[in-house]
Amino acid sequence: MFATLRSAGSIFLPILAFFFLSLTSIRAQSDSTSTEVASDTSTVETATSEGGISDEAVIAEGESLFNANCRVCHAVDQKLVGPALGGIYDRRDMDWIKLFIKNSQAVIASGDAYAVALYEEYNQTVMPSFNFSDSEIESIVAYIRVEADKEPEVAAADGGQPLNPQAAQEPSTFLTVIVVGLVIVLILILVVLFLIINFLTKFLRKREDLDDSDKELIDQRFKLGELVKKPAFVGIVAFVFGVFALKTVIDGLYQVGIQQGYAPTQPIAFSHKLHAGQYEIDCNYCHTGVRKSKSANIPSANICMNCHGQIKTESPEIQKIYAAIENDRPIEWVRVHNLPDLAYFNHAQHVAVGGQECQTCHGEIQEMEVVAQYSPLTMGWCINCHQETNVNTKGNAYYDNLVELHAQHSKAPLKVEDIGGLECAKCHY
Ligand code: HEC
Ligand code: HEC
Ligand code: HEC
Ligand code: HEC
Ligand code: HEC
Ligand code: HEC
Repeated sequence: MFATLRSAGSIFLPILAFFFLSLTSIRAQSDSTSTEVASDTSTVETATSEGGISDEAVIAEGESLFNANCRVCHAVDQKLVGPALGGIYDRRDMDWIKLFIKNSQAVIASGDAYAVALYEEYNQTVMPSFNFSDSEIESIVAYIRVEADKEPEVAAADGGQPLNPQAAQEPSTFLTVIVVGLVIVLILILVVLFLIINFLTKFLRKREDLDDSDKELIDQRFKLGELVKKPAFVGIVAFVFGVFALKTVIDGLYQVGIQQGYAPTQPIAFSHKLHAGQYEIDCNYCHTGVRKSKSANIPSANICMNCHGQIKTESPEIQKIYAAIENDRPIEWVRVHNLPDLAYFNHAQHVAVGGQECQTCHGEIQEMEVVAQYSPLTMGWCINCHQETNVNTKGNAYYDNLVELHAQHSKAPLKVEDIGGLECAKCHY
């Protein structure tokens, strides 16, 4: 009983350490989930508490219309190219709003004092006309109203900065208290155990009727020095170390020439998270070749100017775009993805014909501040996908005969490998 107690004491420390570590990681996880949960619930609350316009379908329609047509120039709580639209339903009546959205220039030309003043205030920027029905415009306004009401707590949910960190903090301080409390309890248990062992040792030493082996057990101490000298121990450590070193070397060799994770600093701090994520600008808007040619293309400064002629004109980063145009020099973006010259890859073939999403190969680009290479871009990577992926044959008459032929000798769906996706000459010049 005594021996077990002693060994219990000596393995207790690692257990304590392990317990503490797992608790911290649980805490870290629940930190992130609690933030999500917090913002999620408030979204639901605002959407339902809004008596008259709680029709979620209308709001969802408004949201997608707003994101697709207005977000580039308008925000709810902030001035962009155009005014912040929160409160527009108080500033103007619905008929005015409808007229203005359908044809703002007509309203301005009619001499409407408010519209003319606004037009002047925004340096005579022309807002495009939108051929929307009345109900579509009403849905946009309903969406703006919901959005304005739920600021600021929920802004974090749309990918912005968390405006109300306080709310997210509370559960995490609560958890910290629990963790600290548990650790204190564990330390107390440890102390008590050591006290018991000490007490028992003293008690047993006083007894005369013990034989030698029992005495040896009582006086036994844990000696690290002796353990380390044992050949078995040295052998195990050397083996583990050797395996680890070998694995590192082999992994390293496989990584030669692979640039996964490569994320160079770009000459302008252009953020996909902001443009493609928050403002939901379509990838095609900038990468104009991606659906119709081999290359996706990096946008020229002209495309940036479509918006930055107006947006953030004072920002030093945007000034770099102006400098490039004035000096008639392209912006020198650093290339991230780069296959060797011996390989042929075609975007249109994969995106337009194959129906592959950008994110399958490039990762969540719309979440990236700085673009990083997501896939290894090795030959094995191409081949794997060609073996696993079905050809997108729906509505493509080109494949009709092939599908028929394939069906005659196989029940499996037509994969890329079946149309020659593994032939060397398809990918190699
Ligand atoms: C290309 C940028 C651009 C786009 C896209 C755009 N607007 Fe505007 N909007 C403006 C500008 C600039 C003004 C200020 C008036 C002016 O200059 O004509 C404005 C003004 C307004 C106003 C009046 C605001 C006020 O405070 O009185 C409303 C309402 C409005 N826009 C709604 C919309 C809606 C809804 C959409 C999407 C369907 C939209 N806008 C898309 C640029 C834009
Ligand atoms: C507003 C314009 C714009 C939009 C919208 C945009 N991009 Fe880009 N993209 C750029 C620019 C500029 C670069 C070059 C600078 C860089 O790497 O960040 C780039 C670089 C990239 C690269 C790396 C290219 C290389 O050097 O290998 C990938 C991949 C990419 N974009 C994918 C996407 C995807 C996917 C989307 C849609 C979710 C998207 N982009 C939307 C402008 C845009
Ligand atoms: C469709 C409109 C649009 C296009 C095209 C566009 N941007 Fe933007 N960009 C924006 C908006 C909106 C913002 C956010 C402005 C804000 O935060 O007030 C922004 C912000 C930025 C910023 C951050 C500026 C700062 O100081 O905060 C940079 C840098 C930038 N864009 C670079 C580019 C480059 C480079 C291109 C061309 C490849 C480009 N943008 C094309 C709409 C656009
Ligand atoms: C099947 C995988 C795959 C898909 C899907 C894909 N890409 Fe690519 N992308 C690549 C590869 C591979 C390269 C490197 C090409 C090279 O070096 O020749 C690349 C390169 C790029 C580049 C750098 C410029 C260029 O043309 O080489 C951009 C920008 C880009 N992709 C954007 C996109 C966008 C936007 C989409 C979605 C519309 C997309 N890609 C979909 C695999 C893919
Ligand atoms: C995410 C999956 C995926 C990855 C990764 C991928 N491909 Fe493909 N690839 C496809 C699909 C799907 C098709 C079929 C397109 C079609 O319907 O014609 C295809 C077709 C092709 C074809 C035409 C084959 C034929 O016989 O018509 C070539 C060439 C090709 N890919 C090259 C590449 C190269 C090179 C790479 C790696 C750099 C690559 N692919 C990576 C999915 C992928
Ligand atoms: C689906 C497309 C695809 C097919 C099919 C394909 N390859 Fe490749 N191969 C690639 C890509 C992409 C690379 C470049 C990979 C890298 O840089 O790591 C490559 C690289 C290679 C290399 C290495 C070249 C070097 O310099 O490292 C050799 C050799 C090669 N392929 C031979 C073949 C042979 C032989 C076949 C036919 C049995 C074949 N490939 C079929 C896409 C393909």
